[in-house]
Amino acid sequence: MPLSTDVLVIGCGIAGATAALRLAQDTQRQVMLITRAYDPEDSNTRYAQGGIVARGHDDSPDLLVEDILRAGAGLSLPAAARQIAELGPALVEDVLLRQLGVPFQRDADGNLTYTREGSHSVSRILHVEDATGHAIEKALIQRLQQLPNVTFRTGLTAVDLITSSHHSTNPLDIYTPITCHGAYVLDRAANKVDRVLAGATVLATGGVGRIFRHTTNPPSARGDGLAMAFRAGARVINAEYIQFHPTTLAIPGADNFLISEAVRGEGARLYTPDGRHFMDQVSPEWGDLAPRDIVARAIHHEMLEHGYPHVLLNLAEGMEPERIVDRFPTIYSTCKQAGIDISRDPIPVVPAAHYFCGGVHVDLVGRSSVDGLYAIGEVSCTGVHGANRLASTSLLEGLVWGYRAGEDIASRRDLASISEAYIPPWRDVSEGAGADPVLAYRDSRTIQNIMWLYVGLARNTHRLARALQDLNHLWEVIDGFYRSTRLAHYREDAEVSHFVDRHDVDGPFPSGVSEL
Ligand code: SIN
Repeated sequence: MPLSTDVLVIGCGIAGATAALRLAQDTQRQVMLITRAYDPEDSNTRYAQGGIVARGHDDSPDLLVEDILRAGAGLSLPAAARQIAELGPALVEDVLLRQLGVPFQRDADGNLTYTREGSHSVSRILHVEDATGHAIEKALIQRLQQLPNVTFRTGLTAVDLITSSHHSTNPLDIYTPITCHGAYVLDRAANKVDRVLAGATVLATGGVGRIFRHTTNPPSARGDGLAMAFRAGARVINAEYIQFHPTTLAIPGADNFLISEAVRGEGARLYTPDGRHFMDQVSPEWGDLAPRDIVARAIHHEMLEHGYPHVLLNLAEGMEPERIVDRFPTIYSTCKQAGIDISRDPIPVVPAAHYFCGGVHVDLVGRSSVDGLYAIGEVSCTGVHGANRLASTSLLEGLVWGYRAGEDIASRRDLASISEAYIPPWRDVSEGAGADPVLAYRDSRTIQNIMWLYVGLARNTHRLARALQDLNHLWEVIDGFYRSTRLAHYREDAEVSHFVDRHDVDGPFPSGVSEL
């Protein structure tokens, strides 16, 4: 028997959780939230350090729209920028502050304090120390767990969207528009694939950072949702616009831990290892607080031109040590473990893949080109970010489009359901052996290296052509592997660890990479 629900939300970050909250509060609809994590708070949202854009003093929606469009390099959709600028700060106030009581930083008089990040004209970013995403996520999940019409299912990996035209056994369904009716999901504990049928399906599966060798993203950000939507026939746009964060910790084993842009917002400056400050020359108007793409390219240029292994970010020169520890406790303690005392020493930093500005094309309420399928958060492309996202707008976009998608679904009476009789159970291609973890590990490593080297920060047609050639070859191999392998949950086993330890000279096993 398939599972069924009114609305299936895949992914529990700020976007998915806000959609579920909006739906569950106002309607009697059943909402099922699934996540591949075992802890529902464990999503990319949890790792967002910097903050969330609100309305600062001397601020206005017009000014925010202007900043978004400038950072987006002329490729942002003005209507989407307008929606986030007008609705975003109002939802921060209503949902995050009033309903959830997120403990954003306040001054001694209890007034909210606003910080600044790259390319913002004014201070307008609310934060909870340097762990803003964690505080928001915690508040959202705790509230959702109290709601009777929300069900959480953890440890489930969505493997395919169910569409009438691809899966229905009714031959006449081929004549209907492509419509999504839920998803096939792998229950990893039970090692079996279930059908979840739903009137509306909301993809909130996050980004693709883990397809690059160096990224700030957690292991779950591998583009599963994007791939499922693409296979289902949804329109995907702007996939070439990957944002590289300029400053991640350049210490072996630190796994590109993010050093928030808020650090530069509080006055830190970038230097070459021989002590030359370079950002004022690159961007006389913005200096160290230039848009992210400009800062990341400038660092890349310095490293390439002079053979530096990294550049240095100095916070200690302009901020009192106690204030550094108070304001950035997470960054302080992680760097301390890596042997760097940021209240005294400069931080070695390099750029790494950070945010996917493209994605499943959606409208202002998150509807994709497939009926019944919504996409919100990083998996979607709303048009807000154009070619480069303005700092601290990702949580805001998740909040706004999550809310609008929830509102839209709640108002709809036209969502089609499909008879379960037409949707067959998942059919495994083979009852035989499961995947060989060594092959799976090595293939994902190869993809990460190709993407990092040929499709990274600096691109040219020569490298892109080579990437295409290599990826096409891999696609054939992996497609064959997928078609002849039983879908199952597996982790790295002794053989993989042995293989990695002995042969993989370029770093430790990235946790979760071999986990479906
Ligand atoms: C950061 O804290 O620098 C990241 C926040 C963001 O991606 O906007």
